[in-house]
Amino acid sequence: MVEERHMDVVPGLEGIPAAESAISYIDGEKGILEYRGIPIGELADNSSYLETAYLLVFGNLPSKDELASFTEDITLHTRLKLKILRMMELMPEAGHPMDYMQAVTSLMGMYYPARDTLDEKVRAASVVRLIAKLPTIVAACHRLRHGDAPIAPDNSLSFAANFYYMLFEKKPDPLIERIIDVILILHADHEMNASTFSSRVVGSTLADPYTIVSSAIGTLSGPLHGGANEHVIYMLDKIGCRENARAYIEDKIDKKEKIMGVGHRVYKTKDPRAIILQGYAHKLFDRKDAKNAEMLGIAEEVEKVVEERLSAKKLYPNVDFYSGVVFKGIGIPTELFTPIFAMARVSGWLAHWVEQLKTNRIYRPTQSYIGKHRQSYVALEDR
Ligand SMILES: CC(C)(COP(=O)(O)OP(=O)(O)OC[C@H]1O[C@@H](n2cnc3c(N)ncnc32)[C@H](O)[C@@H]1OP(=O)(O)O)[C@@H](O)C(=O)NCCC(=O)NCCS
Repeated sequence: MVEERHMDVVPGLEGIPAAESAISYIDGEKGILEYRGIPIGELADNSSYLETAYLLVFGNLPSKDELASFTEDITLHTRLKLKILRMMELMPEAGHPMDYMQAVTSLMGMYYPARDTLDEKVRAASVVRLIAKLPTIVAACHRLRHGDAPIAPDNSLSFAANFYYMLFEKKPDPLIERIIDVILILHADHEMNASTFSSRVVGSTLADPYTIVSSAIGTLSGPLHGGANEHVIYMLDKIGCRENARAYIEDKIDKKEKIMGVGHRVYKTKDPRAIILQGYAHKLFDRKDAKNAEMLGIAEEVEKVVEERLSAKKLYPNVDFYSGVVFKGIGIPTELFTPIFAMARVSGWLAHWVEQLKTNRIYRPTQSYIGKHRQSYVALEDR
């Protein structure tokens, strides 16, 4: 008899620490999220995405000079190589923007070899290139899929404004520019989620950063990870008007169906990011030129019913509940919600990669084998 080693398998590794990390912190009971110890609300009020990205990757807020030089570096690397754009032109228009993003990130690795990941300079240059180029890839992919020519970055604009400009060929007004920056800040890191774990696992093999980010993008593309905000929009569209919200949601709850954008594995109160986005949704929809303004009213009515019926189960709106509403309000097409999430999260993935390499040990978990032993080979003709 072969000796069996019996071990308890924890599905999804829930509650198992996969690494020591000093990057972000969540207290799910109190609704706290911090990056490097700074509350997310303070960053959303005062920081920019590039400053937050620097904080995550390098561990401290940059000095004036450090921020200026990081911003300049990023700005000077936003353009895509002509050959990469040509390859993108040949990709199928029906492909999902997440697939474009994953494929093009992988392709970038062939143009910018970064195999010596233990070299600090190689790491820093890859951090800059990846953060700088993902918005250009998302915007170019969106335009190409709709038969339009990609727009080159305008280096006189901020990171957030430049993304909007490359998408829509016009500059955003200050509120929209700020909203894009805040959305990027809010999605930049979220401790040990699936795509971050994936970037640490791939990073632990000393694979190059383009491979790491393309794996993380692939992980994020699954509907159980990115993507719930798209479903919130479909739900709000289906509800149609504020008056229909109560009956629709009560019926779903009675049928034990899940409400999209509600509930979280870690947060047992309202997600702090949802609170910030709801505030921006009000600023946006108070304006006369607001698009899709009725969505906010429907969303808030849904939240009211969810609070009445589900707060006993500690189910509250998560970030996706309001991010879709805000995205729609600034005119972002639904299929770009998850790519923008990836564009933001890349700084978190890279921060975890850099941290992983400091004390690296290749990930090699074990398993609990439940298969057979000592089976005889049966010849093909006898099966
Ligand atoms: C995020 C999510 C997967 C977390 O799930 P979880 O912590 O594993 O919670 P469970 O699925 O075990 O659910 C616990 C209970 O709450 C209920 N519940 C969880 N999310 C719910 C939701 N969105 N709507 C209604 N009920 C919900 C479950 O039915 C279950 O009820 P029961 O105890 O009566 O069976 C889950 O809340 C969900 O699917 N939410 C909707 C999708 C979403 O918004 N995802 C984005 C997350 S950022």
